[in-house]
Amino acid sequence: MCGIIGYIGERKAQEVLLRGLTRLEYRGYDSAGVAVIDGDRINMLKRQGKLRILINELSTKPIAGTVGVGHTRWATHGVPNDINAHPHLDCTGKIAVVHNGIIENYLELKKNLIREGHKFVSETDTEIIPHLVEKFYKGNLEKAVTSALKLLKGSYAIAVIHKDEPDKVVGARCDSPLIVGVGKGENFLASDVPAVLDYTKEVIYLENHEVITITKKGVSVKDLSGRAINKKPCPISWDISQAEKCGHQHFMLKEISEQGDVLKKILEERLLKGKVSFEELKIKENDFKRFKKIAIVACGTAYHAGMTGKYMLEEYVKIPCWVDTSSEFRYRDPMVDRDTLTIIVSQSGETADSLAALREAKKRGAKTLGICNVLGSSIARESDGVIYTHAGPEIAVASTKAYTAQLAIFYLLTIYLAALRKSVPAPKVRALVREFKKVPDLMNDLIFEYRSDYNIIAAYAQEFKRYYFEKHNKSYFLYLARNINYPNAMEGALKLKEISYISAEGYPAGEMKHGPIALIDENPWVVCIAVKSKTYDKMLSNIQEIKARGGIIIAIVTEGDREILHNNINYVIEIPKINELFSPLLVVIPLQLLAYYVAREFGYDIDQPRNLAKSVTVE
Ligand code: M6R
Repeated sequence: MCGIIGYIGERKAQEVLLRGLTRLEYRGYDSAGVAVIDGDRINMLKRQGKLRILINELSTKPIAGTVGVGHTRWATHGVPNDINAHPHLDCTGKIAVVHNGIIENYLELKKNLIREGHKFVSETDTEIIPHLVEKFYKGNLEKAVTSALKLLKGSYAIAVIHKDEPDKVVGARCDSPLIVGVGKGENFLASDVPAVLDYTKEVIYLENHEVITITKKGVSVKDLSGRAINKKPCPISWDISQAEKCGHQHFMLKEISEQGDVLKKILEERLLKGKVSFEELKIKENDFKRFKKIAIVACGTAYHAGMTGKYMLEEYVKIPCWVDTSSEFRYRDPMVDRDTLTIIVSQSGETADSLAALREAKKRGAKTLGICNVLGSSIARESDGVIYTHAGPEIAVASTKAYTAQLAIFYLLTIYLAALRKSVPAPKVRALVREFKKVPDLMNDLIFEYRSDYNIIAAYAQEFKRYYFEKHNKSYFLYLARNINYPNAMEGALKLKEISYISAEGYPAGEMKHGPIALIDENPWVVCIAVKSKTYDKMLSNIQEIKARGGIIIAIVTEGDREILHNNINYVIEIPKINELFSPLLVVIPLQLLAYYVAREFGYDIDQPRNLAKSVTVE
């Protein structure tokens, strides 16, 4: 939540900051602002609304200067408006601060600062930071920032400038991400790597409680007691085109389209001579042999990937496994111990609840394994072992390719553990590998079919919109499935609600009779995942029950299934034949596209849906 950026160099800071904010806008988009040291003053502009409002205004009255900070906001304290937007200034207007995170003790600090004569203008927690820096400032910005940080409780990534020290930007982090982009004659601070990729592919990942000062020529990192810390830049293999739309109308569509190739790359990298290789993984084979149970902890889409992981791990590794949402796990008394492998799944690797859950599991002696997409993220660094999904940057708020990449890692982990623990015979493991290798091409074909200009999913979305208005906005979606595709029902519903704002729920189809069937009349559209599987007949019965009550059905079926056509289904979407185990990877494609096309029909902002942010770094 919130993206921050800082720049110092020879370029026009405004341009660098705005370009960086464009790449960070997925983190929050209710307001944005920049502050630049412009001669003998700090020149600041901040605006409520999308970044383009700020960009438009700055294009007519640009700010000069080569040192500055910028921010794109997802509001926590204080409504989104110009005043609450970042940067925030101290009383003298000499110090500007951008912040991502939450200062939990801000009210108490604010009260003391007001008593000391400081004047506040916003409702934010952040504004106490420039005032604290002002209070401690005695000609050394780095020292003043360090003193201020010692009083803060909560999470922060900050970037600070001072008009009287125009040769530096000071930053720091605690539980919110901050990286340094190391350039030649210029340096950057940013919440995430894509913000600096236009300028450099060398980054330094900062740890909690590190204070960083960047100048044109260098980078210095210290701890809160002022001790210097030696940090080495890491090379980034991501390409800037991965963070651009490349001709696609939306990032979401681009990312959906990339999934076959992402999967292919994962398999090429990870399946070597039929064996699974997790080269970055630091957990020993002997540990993997001794675990007695597995806990999977995650949020949102990553949680659905974890739910699917449970099905495969229990069936093929024969190990008890449960899945928790991070925000529940961390406040319960979770039964994890040294015999539990705790897997934390997170695209960003920064989700606050997942990070807290990871720490809780570690405290209880469990070995922790992170499945993360963002290199060097907090969860990746703090887990005992990490497996990267290598899906490339995911920009759309609605997660798509990260999900299928997470599923891929769960399949690989299942194959790896099944071979290691000999829970299934070797020929069966080899057969699984062979089947798995078919999926990327099938996925690419499927995406190609349903992405064409006139495809049936887009047509169904159009039809839904017509029906929705005909029914006076009373239509909504239910998603039903059984077994290993049940998590996909949840995922399909999540995708639809987050980008089209239409009510949608995912249920295990067998639960219908225990309540949800009461909802069925002619209003809901019910997406039934009825691919060939051991529960296929049961799904057909559920379809009949819905039809009997007037529900409209979209069925996702295996291609060539003629039997399903006798069920009076309204709309059919076919996926290629594949072993049931791997079917979630294909089934999810039409679910993602359905959500996408519905949102497009309604004309919503698909990549930046209201109220959401890509990376939820606050509780
Ligand atoms: O970065 P994470 O995977 O930890 O994020 C978890 C959820 O916030 C995320 O999956 C969210 O639900 C997505 N917007 C879903 O599309």
